[in-house]
Amino acid sequence: MIAIAAITFAASVLSHGVVEAKRPGSLSIPTTFPDLSACGSEPSFFSTWTGLEKRGQKLPKGSWTIHGLWPDNCDGSFEQYCDLSRQFDPTPSPAILPDGTVIPAYRGPGVDTFIQSFGRQDLLDYMNKFWVSQGSPNAAFWAHEFSKHATCTSTFDVACYGPKYRKHQDVVDFFDAVVRSFHQYPTFDMLAASGIVPSNSTTYTISQLQNAIRSQTGSVPFFGCTNNGTILSEVWYFSHVLGTEQFGTYKTLDATTKSSCSAVAPIRYLERTPSSEREVRRD
Ligand SMILES: *[C@@H]1O[C@H](CO)[C@@H](O)[C@H](O)[C@H]1NC(C)=O
Ligand SMILES: *[C@@H]1O[C@H](CO)[C@@H](O)[C@H](O)[C@H]1NC(C)=O
Repeated sequence: MIAIAAITFAASVLSHGVVEAKRPGSLSIPTTFPDLSACGSEPSFFSTWTGLEKRGQKLPKGSWTIHGLWPDNCDGSFEQYCDLSRQFDPTPSPAILPDGTVIPAYRGPGVDTFIQSFGRQDLLDYMNKFWVSQGSPNAAFWAHEFSKHATCTSTFDVACYGPKYRKHQDVVDFFDAVVRSFHQYPTFDMLAASGIVPSNSTTYTISQLQNAIRSQTGSVPFFGCTNNGTILSEVWYFSHVLGTEQFGTYKTLDATTKSSCSAVAPIRYLERTPSSEREVRRD
């Protein structure tokens, strides 16, 4: 089972190393960066911005952004950093696995250079528009997602590519797969189709959010909220994969993770800070 997550308008920015170090191995869901599972219980900053606007790292107007794509066992457990020969994450989180394995920080060329070496400027441009990190450079975030999660998905194993494997092909294929599944779940548009749009004056209920997505995908995804369940921050879409994660078909499932949004309190879907957004064309 896999999950693709879209981050919204208000993902929390946490120093992930600190948060995860406090809770090694105790999480029942993938602790991807930023560690939103920890945000629910931590006083944290809420941001409708990236923190790297000066470098042009802004959020895409009229769209959610990508968090990642990861494998989950059916009991909700998961593996992480499964192949240290493909460790490209400059800031591993966790830095030490529950079994004591130390994950060394990567200091080599960014994964963006891998994409370029395959002549995939189109993919790189798309990722910079829609796979935007909050609080770290985009390429560091992408590398984290690959090394923490894709190395635990067997279809990306180097051995599965056979003798024609070209170095970093698995990385580029993973990024392509993430983008493809992001296209399958256009969160902003699916919510807007039910009249649910970002607003700093209106609120929504969890049922309204769930019904809006169910009416489009047939399944209820995980909704993540911060601020004690009152500010919408993430949606995770769960799927079974028929075939490879690279090129197979995804069958949508109901989430196996309980929502962190309040079942009773009004939920805010915040408008972004205008200077943190930019126009992007979707193609
Ligand atoms: C968080 O929400 C719960 C349930 O709605 C409520 O009982 C609790 O008082 C809230 N806590 C804070 C700190 O607002
Ligand atoms: C909406 O509210 C959030 C949280 O207070 C704020 O950061 C953001 O800038 C606001 N957006 C607009 C368009 O006012």
